[in-house]
Amino acid sequence: MKTLFDHVNINNIELKNRLVRSATWERMADENGYVNDRLVKVYQDLAQGGVGLIITGYAFVTAAEQPNPRMIGVCDDSYIEGLQRLTEVVHNNDSKIVLQIAYGGSQTRYQTENRVIWGPSAVKHPRTGVVPIEMSQQQIDELIDWFAEAGVRAQKADFDGVQIHGAHGYLLSQFLSPYFNRRTDKYGGSLKNRMRIICEIYEEMRSRVGSDFSIMIKINCSDFTDNGFTFADAQVVCQRLAELGIDAIEVSGSKDPAAKPADQSIFAKYAAKIAEQVACPVIVVNKNRDPQLITNLLNNTDIAFFSFSRPLIREPDLPNRWKNADFGSAKCISCNKCFNEQGMKCIFLV
Ligand SMILES: Cc1cc2nc3c(=O)[nH]c(=O)nc-3n(C[C@H](O)[C@H](O)[C@H](O)COP(=O)(O)O)c2cc1C
Repeated sequence: MKTLFDHVNINNIELKNRLVRSATWERMADENGYVNDRLVKVYQDLAQGGVGLIITGYAFVTAAEQPNPRMIGVCDDSYIEGLQRLTEVVHNNDSKIVLQIAYGGSQTRYQTENRVIWGPSAVKHPRTGVVPIEMSQQQIDELIDWFAEAGVRAQKADFDGVQIHGAHGYLLSQFLSPYFNRRTDKYGGSLKNRMRIICEIYEEMRSRVGSDFSIMIKINCSDFTDNGFTFADAQVVCQRLAELGIDAIEVSGSKDPAAKPADQSIFAKYAAKIAEQVACPVIVVNKNRDPQLITNLLNNTDIAFFSFSRPLIREPDLPNRWKNADFGSAKCISCNKCFNEQGMKCIFLV
């Protein structure tokens, strides 16, 4: 029988359990995206709480683009020293750490007046109203270079790997979506074309970081919207990325209208199907709360890892609690009140 505390690898990262902290924007870096003491403390608490792998909050790959304030930056070498403080505190506390890297795009209301926002096409965002400019070939090449260089910097800062943010409606997931991507060049139209930019980022980064460094991706199982990226699409993209050599796929999604408020592990059925089809490990995120339910999923599917965002804001030591045979569900009630202008924080913690 498989257990949540099995020792398993992703590429050559040796992990002490199957519990992962999913990327969580803490809103705590300094205003230019540099790591500070407060952020180091968050990572220290997470590592000491027993989680096997920590994925950082999303980091911006160019100084010109931050979808949200006080994100971590990785856009030039001056960030490496601060990032090293995160990797050091995590490694000193027996955990592993991967840097999530992202380009936001039109899904933001942050400083949208005074910067140029890139998109696959000039399609008005239905929620924010932001109309991006359609990226030129030169801008696509630049973006690929930024992502690849961010990977190199993560390697220099001693991260165990990087995770490309391809989910949640940000730029790369917009490229996958026929709704946002209306291009008629080689980056739009067929699914093969819509996934091209992600494949090119992966391949360029791989050529610069080598085969031992882990490159992962977070991707929607579906956008659950009209004319969006579908589950059928997601399966094809995941298979292609696995063939190219991606080291792990974290399956997420946009709000599934079929999911009821009390449902747990809501993307597990999609992740399980994907896990049957790819050779690399699959991580599933969203409303993983009950250790028994997760253990059943582990033993009845090919899902290898379970990731958590909000539960670890409320209980950074949740993995240790479960390890010590206190199998009560995560205390998080998924109220989303952890989004806080002063930095993410659970309202139930004093
Ligand atoms: C405060 C907060 C910040 C988040 N920041 C990120 C992020 O930077 N990158 C990302 O991919 N997902 C981000 N997410 C989404 C989580 O990684 C996760 O997919 C989602 O919260 C569902 O998992 P959960 O039920 O364990 O919270 C964030 C979620 C929260 C609550």
